[in-house]
Amino acid sequence: MSASEIYSPGLEGILAGETAISTVEGGLRYRAYPVTELAEKTGFDEVAYLLLYGDLPNRRQLKEFQDRMAGARAIPDPLRDLLGALPPATPPMDALRTSVSVLAHFDPETEDSSHQANLHKAERLLGQIPVAIAAQFRLGRKQPLVATRRDLGHAANFLYMLHGREPREAEVRALDVSLILYAEHEFNASTFAARVVCSTESDLHSGIVAAIGALKGRLHGGANEKVMDLLRAAGGPETAEKWIRDALARKERVMGFGHRVYKTGDVRARILKEFARKAADATGQARWEQTAEIIEGVMQREKNLLPNLDWPAGRLYHALGLEVPLYTPIFVMSRVAGWSAHIIEQLDNNRLIRPRARYTGPEVRSVKTLAERG
Ligand SMILES: CC(C)(COP(=O)(O)OP(=O)(O)OC[C@H]1O[C@@H](n2cnc3c(N)ncnc32)[C@H](O)[C@@H]1OP(=O)(O)O)[C@@H](O)C(=O)NCCC(=O)NCCS
Repeated sequence: MSASEIYSPGLEGILAGETAISTVEGGLRYRAYPVTELAEKTGFDEVAYLLLYGDLPNRRQLKEFQDRMAGARAIPDPLRDLLGALPPATPPMDALRTSVSVLAHFDPETEDSSHQANLHKAERLLGQIPVAIAAQFRLGRKQPLVATRRDLGHAANFLYMLHGREPREAEVRALDVSLILYAEHEFNASTFAARVVCSTESDLHSGIVAAIGALKGRLHGGANEKVMDLLRAAGGPETAEKWIRDALARKERVMGFGHRVYKTGDVRARILKEFARKAADATGQARWEQTAEIIEGVMQREKNLLPNLDWPAGRLYHALGLEVPLYTPIFVMSRVAGWSAHIIEQLDNNRLIRPRARYTGPEVRSVKTLAERG
């Protein structure tokens, strides 16, 4: 078949596949449920189940799912030793990419890409990834590891493993809502990367490793780690307006604003903004919220650009006392549910993803031998 002449840089506006997992048309929905309602009425564990199994769980299904994830909350000793041996400055996102790759070597079903085996692996990764993030965090600070708690949900257990103290309910709920909002987003760059890898009939862990690599970039998930740098550079409410105007005059990209798909605002950002504000008020950090508000106003008036989810997420995580390099790994803790659902969907009806490119090189030329080339 010859290539069609439809070409759109960055695949903007191109339908590159079909999915029943989520849509951004008419407001973001996961498996047909509006994300606004999911954030209000469910928790992340329910949403992860929804993405993987197609519908919300009943009580029994949720309990069994949580037990399976909690049972997987461990990493093999060689991975723990490796994390302890990494240079202390290793970015957590890079260490997490390595961790998932290493976990593949210890998974009993790595090479089994059946629907069932991929569900098992997704559940195990949901359990293991927070353990790996917390282990590298604590080992890098020469702190003893904190044993996981089976009785705690995904968000609560993560905070517990990180800080060694039981988190407050409001902290858990705020983190949990951010995980719900991060869990899935149609054909974003990292999800597409995962689907491309697995369309070759490679394994789920390879797809997740590729997705983590794609998510790391600052135009994608990496943006949430840039938000506090930006706010600190802006200085505070007194200097924010001048700072952002100067940044725009220098044609800088302002992290946390704009979106390839949402041109009239990201509903996820509106939901999380409330949690960021409450967390900042509770910890005496309202100053950063005021600074953010001023920047939002200028971005809208001058560029007609609205915040995306990373804008409030960066502030929320800071208000929760989390260190900046953990922000994109936290995104992974959640999005692994969406990525896995997409890999499973891709393989249920697989066709190798292999587009064409428009050739822009020179006309055909003939090869000179090395002797002729001198
Ligand atoms: C997400 C993003 C890559 C989407 O980009 P896109 O769909 O390719 O949009 P474009 O790059 O075509 O941007 C359109 C215009 O808006 C500008 N723009 C877009 N986002 C901007 C931002 N965050 N800051 C400043 N200007 C921005 C572009 O410079 C461009 O202006 P121009 O037409 O004068 O050149 C982009 O908005 C961005 O870089 N945002 C910051 C990173 C971020 O927050 N990423 C997380 C996304 S969830």
